[in-house]
Amino acid sequence: MKSENSKTILLTGGAGFIGSHLVRHLVKKYPFYQIINLDALTYAGNLENLKDIEEAENYTFIKTDITNAEKIQALFNAYKFDSVIHLAAESHVDRSISDPLAFAKTNILGTMNLLNSFKNLWQNQWKDKLFYHISTDEVYGSLGKTGFFTETTAYDPNSPYSASKASSDHFVRAYGETYGLPFIISNCSNNYGPYQFPEKLIPLFINNIILNKKLPVYGAGKNTRDWLYVVDHAKAIDKVFHEGKQGETYNIGGFNEWTNIDLINLLCDLMDEKLNRPVGESKKLISYVKDRPGHDFRYAIDASKIKNELGWKPSVNFEQGLEKTIDWYLKNQKWLENVTSGEYLKYYEKQYGN
Ligand code: NAD
Ligand code: TYD
Repeated sequence: MKSENSKTILLTGGAGFIGSHLVRHLVKKYPFYQIINLDALTYAGNLENLKDIEEAENYTFIKTDITNAEKIQALFNAYKFDSVIHLAAESHVDRSISDPLAFAKTNILGTMNLLNSFKNLWQNQWKDKLFYHISTDEVYGSLGKTGFFTETTAYDPNSPYSASKASSDHFVRAYGETYGLPFIISNCSNNYGPYQFPEKLIPLFINNIILNKKLPVYGAGKNTRDWLYVVDHAKAIDKVFHEGKQGETYNIGGFNEWTNIDLINLLCDLMDEKLNRPVGESKKLISYVKDRPGHDFRYAIDASKIKNELGWKPSVNFEQGLEKTIDWYLKNQKWLENVTSGEYLKYYEKQYGN
């Protein structure tokens, strides 16, 4: 029999970047919860990310693809998940430009399979149930030099990635309105930190600096992003999951905007220091390349709702977070080597041509 505080949580995408930090956080903090990590282990999923907790008694891993409706329903029936925290997704904008359909399949159809299975399992018996959908600020489109995304900003996605995430958000909300399915959505800004696959800006550039490879800056490098340390995102998800109001959206951000080129210059300086290279050495690798098609100019989150209503704010400032991140990648070059062999090399060649 379950104790009063116990929950059986299906966490999808737990072998990826943010998911692995969230799994670790929940498994350690809530020994009385059962955390079931469901992940297809695509190129972005890696069980090495979870080595330290894989033997924990409250943790189970299941390799399954969320696009497989039958298997997903069977798992819901077998485990009777009372909560879902859904992170599994195709997550890289550049890949969505070359293969948009893969994004529609996983991000839209995969999300719908989870919603359907949850609805079929509980048949309106919604007490103490929750479907928590993890989304991105990219659904709001692009800002000019001023302004912020709030929870009421109209959706205006520009990339196949953000269009697929926007669509999945709409389906979650529609299942709430139509079937009464209890849900929460959070939309977060750019994350960075350990275990991020080196196709995204920060780990890609750290890896290239280590290898003395060019740093491909899209366009003029003036695009702006709001950066949040990944562990702070995991803590925000914990807060929203336990204290957020059903049917609501929460924006999560770092209060931390950087133009790409300013961020890259800071990263280069820190890397020179860590690698004992002469000042200015890494900056010589900067190479301006053709802009990303449909490149959103600026994302900036107004995170005052989660701050004021739930008392969450980032705990790590950017300089500290970036230094921790660099230290982790330098210490874990084996991890980097493992994930940058095979399929990665083909991706890199196709995306950057060298
Ligand atoms: P990631 O690419 O590192 O990890 C995605 C995980 O999902 C991987 O483990 C992968 O194996 C798994 N997956 C992919 N397709 C699957 C499928 N069909 N079935 C089952 N598993 C599948 O992504 P991330 O950066 O950790 O992002 C996690 C979530 O957070 C995504 O939903 C993303 O949209 C959202 N998000 C990310 C950021 C960011 O900056 N990285 C910011 C805001 C929101
Ligand atoms: P990315 O990490 O792909 O995240 P997102 O596109 O989801 O914000 O990119 C962050 C910013 O860095 C974005 O403005 C694109 C830019 N960028 C480059 O200039 N060069 C690169 O090689 C990559 C991957 C990104």
